Amino acid sequence: MSATIIDGKAFAAGLRARVAEDVRGLAERGIAPGLAVVLVGEDPASQVYVRNKAAQTVEAGMRSFQHRLPATTSQAELLALVHTLNADDAVDGILVQLPLPAGIDAQAIIEAIAPEKDVDGFHPANVGRLATGMPGLVPCTPLGASMLIDSVRPDVAGLEAVVIGRSNIVGKPMAQLLLQRSATVTIAHSRTRDLADVCRRADILVAAVGRPEMVRGDWIKPGAVVVDVGINRVPNPQAEDGKTRLVGDVAFDEAKEVAGAITPVPGGVGPMTIACLLANTLQAAKARRG
Ligand code: GUN
Repeated sequence: MSATIIDGKAFAAGLRARVAEDVRGLAERGIAPGLAVVLVGEDPASQVYVRNKAAQTVEAGMRSFQHRLPATTSQAELLALVHTLNADDAVDGILVQLPLPAGIDAQAIIEAIAPEKDVDGFHPANVGRLATGMPGLVPCTPLGASMLIDSVRPDVAGLEAVVIGRSNIVGKPMAQLLLQRSATVTIAHSRTRDLADVCRRADILVAAVGRPEMVRGDWIKPGAVVVDVGINRVPNPQAEDGKTRLVGDVAFDEAKEVAGAITPVPGGVGPMTIACLLANTLQAAKARRG
């Protein structure tokens, strides 16, 4: 039997519509939530993300502030911008696009962002709030992934969840969200032994490693929910002109024959990330402005 394909694109569109509706409500009270996005350097993938973030922010009725700085920007200059944005009343959310150029300490930048404006949820105060079950700002990609899991498996209590990847951006917060919902959570990573066997236990399998099609069909427990966070660009053997295609961390064609539900790449978790960024900006605006 073939898996249910989880339509992240449609789910994200619905979430953005709900955010936009709430934003219209705030507009009646004279409040316009604002999101500041900071891009340092010329990384082409980051430029695309930042452009998409700005367009969708405006589409949701919010104010978008873009700050593009050269790759030669110093840590002190970037810190000064963050301090300015912290103090700017029109700015409810601050996102500094990662990765930052060599020579800038990303952790120092993250820690400089006011926690109540940290719409990435990367500040240690928000990491701690998530770990202790307090309300706060939750990282966008795992938040979006957990919404997609909820859409097909609303009760994960007691289920085995395996998260492959231990990054601060995805793996660790994803594990926290699943633990909060009372799943039995394993975080697997590059040093995990017998990874395929660990994955075969999973009722919920989240792959966030950045290795194209690493998770094979025979790693998946029949009926499992498979969430693919990977976005990998690989050569497309079908195209003569050197064009590439996007694949996830999961071998989709194999996995969909075994899983109960699976997110595609593209069109799965990806669109949820920006939608959750808008939701976080709205949450920050409401919290800050009452
Ligand atoms: N680069 C890749 N993903 C992210 C993200 O979620 N937030 C930020 N700030 N940078 C990223």
